[in-house]
Amino acid sequence: MTEKVSAASGETRGPERVRRVTTHRVQQMKDRGELIPMVTAYDYTSARLADAAGIPLVLVGDSLGQVVLGFDSTVPVTVDDMVRHTAAVVRGTQRALIVADMPFMSYQVDAESAIRNAGRLLQEGGAQAVKVEGGKPVAHIVRRMSDAGIAVMGHIGLTPQSIHRLGGHRVQGRDTRAANALLEDAHAIEEAGAFAIVLELIPAELAATITDRQHIPTIGIGAGPRCSGQVQVFHDLLGLSDRKLRHARRYADLAPVVRSALEQYASEVRGGQFPTDAESFFTHENAARPGEGATTKPNSV
Ligand code: KIV
Repeated sequence: MTEKVSAASGETRGPERVRRVTTHRVQQMKDRGELIPMVTAYDYTSARLADAAGIPLVLVGDSLGQVVLGFDSTVPVTVDDMVRHTAAVVRGTQRALIVADMPFMSYQVDAESAIRNAGRLLQEGGAQAVKVEGGKPVAHIVRRMSDAGIAVMGHIGLTPQSIHRLGGHRVQGRDTRAANALLEDAHAIEEAGAFAIVLELIPAELAATITDRQHIPTIGIGAGPRCSGQVQVFHDLLGLSDRKLRHARRYADLAPVVRSALEQYASEVRGGQFPTDAESFFTHENAARPGEGATTKPNSV
């Protein structure tokens, strides 16, 4: 929060809340040709870093099933998992619009349970929007959620929750028939009221066509440069995961840095170099008399 001072009177108006990015602002970015960065975050600390970096859209992705919880797909992730992580991400951000993934089977069964589960992500998690995977077959559910006042982001192309039906992580929409089906999916999701749509692992030319034909912004991952924005998984972007993906650029190689810090810490504990007196606390008596207790500083955290 910042304090706003009136130029005319010099009067302090009190703390001003940082305003969150809205879905309206996201649409404005596409309309103005501003490319939109989005990143996943799953906890308070990573969310704070994303917000401090000025990233306007943060996705609490169900990819947390793999990169945080260690499952081999997103399928085991539950609504409770998503609510817990979404709330942490919301607490870590002030400005970003938070989109929470709806996990497998939390929206596919019927519109009532979809609305109820999305409601939990908004009310208990504090997200501003939810994301669902799928095209035409889920359009009626997107419609019902949107009519209930929920901001929905679509997600077509490679949809990781359907990994067992798709038969692996393959580029989708490479032939004309599949490409046309994805064009229809994008159209159906927009017509159903979604405010944006993720395009995952589809040919760059097809993503460009969808972006040109749709009014709402497209956010690509493995969908080439002609989308309205891009989304990346936090751990891939920072070199914290083992995954080597053609479409994920590493902006840092943090795993070796973290590992070496942990190794040095363990070695200094074993060697008795950590902690020193300067990193310890003493009784008032010893803290007040430098030299005794070998500390030169008063107790302070
Ligand atoms: O869960 C996730 O991280 C996602 C992105 C890959 C778009 O859905």
